[in-house]
Amino acid sequence: MDDPVNTYPIWSDAARRDPHALYARLRAEAPVYKGTGPVSGNTFWFFTRYEDCVALLKDQRFIKDADKIMTEAQRAFFAPSNPAEAALNRHMLNLDPPDHTRLRSLVHKAFTPRMIENLQDRIEEISAELLDGIEQAGLRQFDLIEQYSYPLPVIVIAELLGIPKDDQDSFRRWTKALLFGQGDPAHAALEAVSYFNSIFSQRKADPRDDLISGLLAVEEAGDKLDHQELLSMIFLLLVAGHETTVNLITTGMLTLMQHPAQMERLIAEPTLIRTAVEEILRYHGPVENTLSRWSAEDTDFKGKTIRRGDVVLASLMSANRDEAVFENADTFDITRDPNRHIAFGGGIHYCLGAPLARLEGTIAINALLRRLPRLKLAVPAESLKWNDQITLRGLQALPVMRT
Ligand code: HEM
Repeated sequence: MDDPVNTYPIWSDAARRDPHALYARLRAEAPVYKGTGPVSGNTFWFFTRYEDCVALLKDQRFIKDADKIMTEAQRAFFAPSNPAEAALNRHMLNLDPPDHTRLRSLVHKAFTPRMIENLQDRIEEISAELLDGIEQAGLRQFDLIEQYSYPLPVIVIAELLGIPKDDQDSFRRWTKALLFGQGDPAHAALEAVSYFNSIFSQRKADPRDDLISGLLAVEEAGDKLDHQELLSMIFLLLVAGHETTVNLITTGMLTLMQHPAQMERLIAEPTLIRTAVEEILRYHGPVENTLSRWSAEDTDFKGKTIRRGDVVLASLMSANRDEAVFENADTFDITRDPNRHIAFGGGIHYCLGAPLARLEGTIAINALLRRLPRLKLAVPAESLKWNDQITLRGLQALPVMRT
């Protein structure tokens, strides 16, 4: 018998405001659950238990390169709207081995914990400059995202790649258009491609010690990286490098402000930041559901038949609240240890930037608590607006005030 679909309103406004209650029901009642996308009409399978998510992320029957198995209807729906958008799509997160392995190995060295440690002083400096800016402007009430949690990771990833940080308003516009459907995606993609191409020309003429110059040398050296892959790689790193970390810092601060005793404790004992950041990632991680994987064949999973071409998603946010793995899973506890959350995914697509995200979150939150320890929410929590989508969980603004 076929599964009843859409019994659980994952895309509803109520679930978008607070998805946790719905995921708790899914874990208990329908852990491998089939929904129909409200716009695409595609079949989406949501895996909501921890153990199932971990298994899904390692299972080679669920692939990323949808081109291999899409139906004509899906191809038409998911087709990029123009060549520029297509030029940004061929990155490791959309590919399977061997292409995935080849592309990831080209940049993986730049993101090892060792390399990332070298960025510590610079991240501290950026954080201090942003906090100086808030103090010097005498801001008593401000949007934490605008003033702090957005610029910090954007500046870091822009410097790493070798793109001018002053262009961050453009990065934001492209991300909003291409990831959140706000604005014109086709135009944003064209702008991004022409922007990257002009940076590439500059770096070819005058190479520097940055990731773009390094990757251009690889492209020129032979058959390891073609131009579309290069464009897509830079775009992925730019977007993945900031969008989620913005939310780690922002949602982290919101959660701490909503748990004042724990915030006081962290201010008194800054070394707790290591477990605190892990707990923020678990309790309210930036990625609600992974990006799509596609079933490459008809597959039986926990008694369900997942058809070739169906989309499967690991609900990381749900897995991280699974009582079978985390004691008092709905309790926010900055001392929780061990904490085996899967906020960074798993398997071969495990987040490349996890060491960087952890370091940025650690520095950003601790510096903020040290400089502005009495920060409070400036509006009722119920009035905060969350992104209207099921992948990236994040606030649109976080108005805070100094007291
Ligand atoms: C708190 C911040 C972050 C979170 C929660 C996060 C989460 C994730 C998750 C869940 C995935 C896997 C998605 C899937 O399997 O469908 C992923 C992949 C990825 N992330 Fe992150 N990420 C964060 C920050 C970063 C940063 C700072 C970078 C820096 C470059 C980055 C780069 C990447 C890349 C390149 C991939 C694709 C890896 C692959 O396909 O092999 N992420 N991230």
